Formats: sequence, structure tokens, C-alpha cells
Amino acid sequence: MSEIHELLELAVRIAKDAGALLSARPEHLSIDTKSSDIDIVTQMDRASEKLIFESILAARPDDGIIGEEGANRPSSSGYTWVIDPIDGTVNYFYNMAGWSVSIAVKDQKGTAVGVVYSPTTSSLFTATRGGGSYLNGRKLKCNDPIELDRALIATGFAYSKELREKQIAQFNDLILKIRDYRRNGSAAIDICHVAAGIVDGYYEMGLKEWDRAAAELIAEEAGAKVTVHGELTIAAGAHLHGILSGHLLG
Ligand code: IPD
Ligand code: CA
Ligand code: CA
Repeated sequence: MSEIHELLELAVRIAKDAGALLSARPEHLSIDTKSSDIDIVTQMDRASEKLIFESILAARPDDGIIGEEGANRPSSSGYTWVIDPIDGTVNYFYNMAGWSVSIAVKDQKGTAVGVVYSPTTSSLFTATRGGGSYLNGRKLKCNDPIELDRALIATGFAYSKELREKQIAQFNDLILKIRDYRRNGSAAIDICHVAAGIVDGYYEMGLKEWDRAAAELIAEEAGAKVTVHGELTIAAGAHLHGILSGHLLG
């Protein structure tokens, strides 16, 4: 088996283990706040990151690890794992479906492996660079070409009021021009939905590397274009991506 496929197999195993840990929800979730009063972290975000960190370390002690909840280990192998132990913590906190575990492995050429796992919807999204992307083993292809007035667009909102002001302007500009919006609560899943044709496009301001690393590869391997312009991420088939970019960046 090639090293990339070994990494994929390991990432899938770890994502499923983390998903099982998170699915056994404790009765009480204790929360701390992070960047703002509405940006929360639970003991389960930390427990999931610990499980993922220790599992990677046990199997591949020379790899680097970057995680949202503080994991920061340099790489001596050339591979670095980028993890979001729960993407969609607010969904998780309210016991709403759709949160995910996001795991990417990067090398010197970029992202080599991406895995996004959503236990509440039994969805396992996977991709290897150059090897296509899959949902539960089914090959993915994004919707393209899609016109703006027929586009179902996913987006999300930041925890910072400053960014939300800018997001209101973007939202207001597009709401009269598109089919509809969806706000599902996990950026990783939103971008995977572009890959699967479950939505036509996605944009959001304020994503971090761990929100998008795995899903970006999954979308690109499904034929979508994913670009990052400062704080703004845009993902869609090429035709709609061009139109969205014109509106959001123009
Ligand atoms: C958040 C989710 C949400 C998005 C936010 C992210 P978190 O990640 O992906 O959908 O709108 O921008 O910060 O905090 O749940 O890991
Ligand atoms: Ca996240
Ligand atoms: Ca998170």
C-alpha cells in the first residue's frame, strides 16, 4: 500500500474513533469561551483532540500535528496533520445533527489526505490528492455549471461581531439573487456538500486552516474550485465560483 493510502486508512480509523467518543455524549457539557462570549469549547472538543493527537503520535511519532484546541507539534517526517476535533461545536452543544470531525494530512506539496466524518448523518467524506473524493465509498462530482439564480448556497457566520457586520453585507447582496441559503453549522461539512452536489456553492469569512484543510481537498477532487482571499473562502464549481467571486470580491 502507498504511504498516502496508509495515511488515509489511519485518518479514517482515527476520525471514526473520535466520532464514537463524541457520539457517547455526556449528560453535562461544561463550556469555556474562546475568542468571544459566543465562541465556545466543551470538554468533548478537548477529549476528541486528545484522542486524535495520541492516536497519531502512537502510529506516526515523527509527524507534526496542528489542532484547534492547542495541539502544536513540529514535523520531522515532512507530514503534518491538521485537525478540527469537532467542527460545529454549537451544533454539538445543542445536540443538533451535522457536526463533524475533520482530519487532513499535509506534505510539502499541500494537502495529501482529507477525511471529514459526520456520525449523526453517517457520512464519511474522504479524498487523496489526485485520487478523487468519496462519500461512503461513492465517487463525488460537484454541480457545474450552475447559474447564480439557481444556486443553493451554504454559508456560516463568524463568532466576531466585526466579521458579522461584513457578513451581513454579503448576505444581503446575494439573498435576492440566489435560489436560497443554508446554514448547517459545520464549515467542513458545507464544503463537502459542495463536493457532493448537496449544495451548489459555499462562502464564508473567518475560516481557520483546521476548518477547511480536509474539506478543501475533498471539494477539489470532486472538480470544485476552492479559493481563499484574505479572510474569505469560496468553494463551487468553476462557473458559479467565477460569479460568486465577482459578487463577493468586486
Ligand atoms: C465553526 C463552524 C461553523 C462556521 C464557523 C466555524 P467550530 O467551527 O465551522 O460552521 O460558521 O466559522 O468557526 O468553532 O464549530 O469548530
Ligand atoms: Ca471549526
Ligand atoms: Ca472546532
